[in-house]
Amino acid sequence: MTATDPRDLADLADPAGPADLADLRPRLPSPLQEVVDGRFERHGVRLLLKRDDLIHPALVGNKWRKLAPNLATVGARTVVTFGGAYSNHLRATAAAGRLLGLSTVGVVRGQELAGLPLNPSLARCAADGMRLHFVDRSTYRRKAEPETLAALLRAVDAGEAVVVPEGGSNAEAVRGCRALGEELGEHADVAALACGTGGTLAGLAAGLPRGRRTLGIPVLKGGFLSADIRRLQERAFGGPRGTWSLDDRFHFGGYARTGPRLDAFAEDFERRHGLPVERVYVAKMLYALLALAQEGAFPRGTTLAAVVTGRPFP
Ligand SMILES: Cc1ncc(COP(=O)(O)O)c(C=O)c1O
Repeated sequence: MTATDPRDLADLADPAGPADLADLRPRLPSPLQEVVDGRFERHGVRLLLKRDDLIHPALVGNKWRKLAPNLATVGARTVVTFGGAYSNHLRATAAAGRLLGLSTVGVVRGQELAGLPLNPSLARCAADGMRLHFVDRSTYRRKAEPETLAALLRAVDAGEAVVVPEGGSNAEAVRGCRALGEELGEHADVAALACGTGGTLAGLAAGLPRGRRTLGIPVLKGGFLSADIRRLQERAFGGPRGTWSLDDRFHFGGYARTGPRLDAFAEDFERRHGLPVERVYVAKMLYALLALAQEGAFPRGTTLAAVVTGRPFP
């Protein structure tokens, strides 16, 4: 069996009891591949792809690194988590539930979606056994407040539940992402990745050796992410870790926003390198790296590792 064939994994969950995470046979360390691309070479930059998208067919990329440490402690409890209508995190949690024999509940942003046909992403969650609970946007915004959370947990009737935050970025997840930096080790001078909550960056930066740096490309508009990353590192490690920075110029208008320039870039990258380019996160990061190389932001001789944190859906 190869780790990329979803058919082989569909039946791994043992109906007699929860499967173990090790039974899922993740491909770790994830492959590190060199990409020959004249547009980078011209500026003296060597480009590597850290293929976290190949870790596991259902728990793709940073989802494995974040969810595995959380799920390892769940036992017989229900996993309750949160996301938007196209959330990669909800899909990964639902798939993990199926594979590990855990019950899962997804609290979905958007009361107006209740009663409508499920979009393909939520249909996948439901097919994997996730119970979906739709809430209005104002409740969703307040989901971390203790009273709102308690009311939500009562409403979903999940019994004893383990709550995993939106995007999966809690302290366990951040510590799980440290392995990504450890795997990269001395292989690259700069590790680059797309950021949503910043949890993956917080862990990756902590795992890289001294003298290496992490570059984050936020896909959301806002500019509050640095403070969030410092908070995540404080909770996970007790203080700041690693050398990292963010470049806020490549969000293309905000979350899931795109445009002809980004689409053309992603299609061209797929054609050149045979890499399926996930559009919400990975495309923006790769676009940013090329723009930065062309600006001369990386000294000649730099080895750049671009973390492929996801894969297109479906
Ligand atoms: C494909 C992909 N890449 C990157 C990220 C960003 O991860 P983080 O929220 O840890 O910044 C996500 C988040 O869900 C994602 O789905």
